[in-house]
Amino acid sequence: MRFLTITLFTISLCLSISSESDEKSTADTNENNLPDDTMPVTHHHRHHRIRHGNVHRKRQPVCVNGKPVEGVCECELDYVGKHCEKKKNCQSYRRYKNGSCPECLKGYQGDYCEEIICYNGLPNTHHTECLCDDPYSGKHCDELETKRIYSYYNRKVFLLGPLGAISLIPMCAMYMICEYFARKRQVKRVGLMMEGQNINVQDRMLEKLLNNM
Ligand SMILES: *[C@@H]1O[C@H](CO)[C@@H](O)[C@H](O)[C@H]1NC(C)=O
Repeated sequence: MRFLTITLFTISLCLSISSESDEKSTADTNENNLPDDTMPVTHHHRHHRIRHGNVHRKRQPVCVNGKPVEGVCECELDYVGKHCEKKKNCQSYRRYKNGSCPECLKGYQGDYCEEIICYNGLPNTHHTECLCDDPYSGKHCDELETKRIYSYYNRKVFLLGPLGAISLIPMCAMYMICEYFARKRQVKRVGLMMEGQNINVQDRMLEKLLNNM
């Protein structure tokens, strides 16, 4: 029965797909069979658009620290990137002709010292800021604040709390088992002692007595 429904389903699916492709092919032929006189019109329109495009369509780029020149950003001193959005972080004022510098400031890397280094964290997608791991902070995630460390450990302890409680349960169980056997031994010992003195006492009675002590 199930097999039958599956086959029926597959067949209907195939039919629907094939009919769709049929529609498409008919649409294609329709397009190809367009009357010839429409073609020059579209042709004309396209030319028109392109002619105006050089003035209007070519979008000027957004230059954060620079200005667009012929569709490309020309960056101000010490800025790089497609949108001049990255600052160079050079150690000195020396620059090579290509704009790179011999040495970067601490915490920066890259050809133009434009990439931030995150010592305990990860940089954002543009490598301009760090997302620090707990409990680190600071621009390069290399700072440890006492307050943050406290809150970090407080949170850790809070998380460990339930775990600690759970680990206490076996310990309690062990203690209780030990206690139980110790009491059993005690009962036996007292029983033996009393036997030695020819006093016959039932174990159960003795246990009750000792437990009430
Ligand atoms: C720029 O030039 C210097 C020295 O000529 C070279 O060491 C450096 O790799 C160049 N940087 C880039 C990004 O081309």
